[in-house]
Amino acid sequence: MSEKVVLTYGTFDLFHIGHLNLLRRLRQLGDRLLVGVSTDEFSKLKGKQPIISFTDRAEIIRALRCVDGVFPEECWEQKAGDIRKHCVSVFGMGSDWEGRFDELKAYCEVIYLPRTEGISSTEIRKTLKILDRAHTRELKQALDLVSSIVERLD
Ligand code: CTP
Repeated sequence: MSEKVVLTYGTFDLFHIGHLNLLRRLRQLGDRLLVGVSTDEFSKLKGKQPIISFTDRAEIIRALRCVDGVFPEECWEQKAGDIRKHCVSVFGMGSDWEGRFDELKAYCEVIYLPRTEGISSTEIRKTLKILDRAHTRELKQALDLVSSIVERLD
């Protein structure tokens, strides 16, 4: 019997437990798990500005025990071709994509798995930005303090 290939796509920026849970569950659905990692350009097109470069994101995904192959995701239209090329049986994504890829049911089984609650790369990126602003404020306050001390020395 031929092996069952599972396929998924994503940016996987700031790799976290939600990503790992999804990839492990997908791998359990078949014999091989392939992952299309979104390039930096395609991620931007999807409205995400990754902090970690494509090269590093792809390397992290490739190093996982539950992942058997990685390739770049460069556009929306490549999915049907990838499914045919890799003889994919199951196409799976997290539930935030529910219904968005139903047209691929013409080529293979399409499933949406529940997302892990309470964690998201977008939320981590937002927190980092807030911290960054807070840090800039702290630095400015420290500089003001130093210059007031220097002025008093004059
Ligand atoms: N995912 C998940 N549980 C999470 C976060 C992500 O199951 N808590 C899944 C997504 O549904 C998707 C895959 O992981 O199928 C890759 O998601 P990606 O968009 O790269 O990561 P997110 O953390 O969802 O990033 P964002 O918040 O920017 O959408």
